Amino acid sequence: MPSLGFLKKKRTKDSQESNDLNSPTSPTLDRVTSNNTPLSPTISKNSTLFSEPESTTNRTNPSAIPTSPKPAEQMNNNNQIVGQNPTANTQNVPSIKNMINGPDYGGNNGGASQNDSAYSSQTAASSAQSALGLATQNARGNPVRETKGKYTLTDFTISRTLGTGSFGRVHLVQSKHNQRFYAVKVLKKQQVVKMKQVEHTNDERRMLQRCKHPFLITLWGTFQDGKNLYMVMDFIEGGELFSLLRKSQRFPNPVAKFYAAEVTLALDYLHSANIIYRDLKPENLLLDRHGHLKITDFGFAKEVPDITWTLCGTPDYLAPEVVSSKGYNKSVDWWSLGILIFEMLCGFTPFWDSGSPLKIYENILKGRVKYPPYIHPDAQDLLVKLITSDLTKRLGNLHGGSRDVMTHPWFAEVTWERLAKKDIDAPYVPPVKGGVGDASLFDKYPEETEAYGQGGDDPHGKLFPDF
Ligand SMILES: Nc1ncnc2c1ncn2[C@@H]1O[C@H](COP(=O)(O)OP(=O)(O)O)[C@@H](O)[C@H]1O
Ligand SMILES: [Mg+2]
Repeated sequence: MPSLGFLKKKRTKDSQESNDLNSPTSPTLDRVTSNNTPLSPTISKNSTLFSEPESTTNRTNPSAIPTSPKPAEQMNNNNQIVGQNPTANTQNVPSIKNMINGPDYGGNNGGASQNDSAYSSQTAASSAQSALGLATQNARGNPVRETKGKYTLTDFTISRTLGTGSFGRVHLVQSKHNQRFYAVKVLKKQQVVKMKQVEHTNDERRMLQRCKHPFLITLWGTFQDGKNLYMVMDFIEGGELFSLLRKSQRFPNPVAKFYAAEVTLALDYLHSANIIYRDLKPENLLLDRHGHLKITDFGFAKEVPDITWTLCGTPDYLAPEVVSSKGYNKSVDWWSLGILIFEMLCGFTPFWDSGSPLKIYENILKGRVKYPPYIHPDAQDLLVKLITSDLTKRLGNLHGGSRDVMTHPWFAEVTWERLAKKDIDAPYVPPVKGGVGDASLFDKYPEETEAYGQGGDDPHGKLFPDF
C-alpha cells in the first residue's frame, strides 16, 4: 500500500507531442494495424519526457464519505464486499439493484441539468447499441456542431477557478445573456506553443466538437484573444471523481462497476469514431448533479484510424505499448480502463511508485500486478484481461471490441441500454443545487493574476485557426 503522499497529490501529465512530428503518423505511411494484431515496433522513439510540477493540493478528508464502506461491512469470509455503509445517506447508498433489471425507474433521472437539453437519450442508446451491433449511429455520423465564433470574453462574467491541469485552467463563468453557468478552459497560447501542445490543442477542440454523448462533456464554443484560447463547456457541478475517491479511500464493488460501465459506454462511442482518448483517470471524470459521469479534458484525444506513436498521458495510466515506444491505438484506453477500475477498487494504482515516473514506467513494463484479496473475483478476472501487455489478449482490443468488455461477467447485471439513457440511479448524488453556480465540491486554487482579454501582439494566433 503506497504511502499517504500518493493520496494527497494530484498526478501530472506527460506528453511528448514533438515526437509526433518525427514519428510515422503521416497518412502517407501505410501502417494500418488491425485491432487484434500485436503491434510490432518498427520505429523506436527517442523519448525525453518532461514532467510538470505536481500540484500540492491536499485532497485528504476521509470524514464526509458517502460511499465508503467500513472494513467490517465490506468483507465476507471470501473477502468479498458485501455490505454498505450504514452511515450513508440512503439516497446515496450504492446498491447493486441500481444496476440490474430492477424496478422501472420511469426513464428519468430527476430532470436534466441546465444544459442537458442538448443531449438526446437516443444518441446514448444508439451508442451503447453500436457495441452490441444493433445500431450504427455514432460520432462518425454526427453532424459537426457549429461552435466557432459564437462567443467572446465579454459574453461572460468570469469567476473562480474550478481546476488546473498541466496545460490549462478552468473557470466557472456566467453568461451575461442567459445567466447560465458554464466552465471555460483557458489556455495561454505562449505556454501551449512552448510545451509543444499546438497540435493537441487543435485536436482537443476538433474532437470535442464532434462528440455528442451523455457521458462526454459538451463544448458550446471557442474563441481567442491576443494571449489566450477559450473553450466554453457545460459546468459540471458535482466535482471530480478523484475527490470523491480520495475521500472514500476506495469504492465498493457496485460503485466502481457503475462508473466503469459509464466510462465503457463513452469509450465505445469514441472508438466507434476512431477517436482514442488517452487520458483516462479520475481527475478527468466529473460527476453531474445526478451523479452520472462526464468525461472532460480532450487534451490528448485524437482521431487515429490506424496507429500512432506519441508518448502522452499520465504516468500511472500509461499502457506498456506507450511506455516502450511501440505504435499503439485504441488498446491504450482499455488498459487505462483497467487501471481506473483498479484505482477505484483499491484507492491506489497498480504500478504506483513513490520514486518517480521512471520507476512507474519500469513497473508497467514488468507488468506484475498485486491484487488485494478484497477485489471481487469477477473484477479481478476483468482486470487481468485489461491490464495485460499482450495485445492479442487484452479485452476491448480483440475481434469483439468493446462488446467483450460489456459482456464480461463483472458487468453481468448491467443493462447497457438503460445505463446509456441514464435510466439507472447513480450510487452517489453530489450535494449541489443545480443551476446556481455552486462550485463548493471543487478544490480551491490560487487565482490567475493576469487579466484576460488584454490586447497587444498575437504572434501565435495563426496556429489556432479553428478557435
Ligand atoms: N466542464 C467542466 N466543469 C467543471 N469542472 C471542470 C470542467 N472541465 C474541467 N474541469 C475542472 O478543471 C480541471 C482541469 O481541466 P482539464 O480539462 O482536465 O485540464 P488539463 O488538460 O490541464 O488537465 C479538471 O480536472 C476539472 O477539475
Ligand atoms: Mg485533466
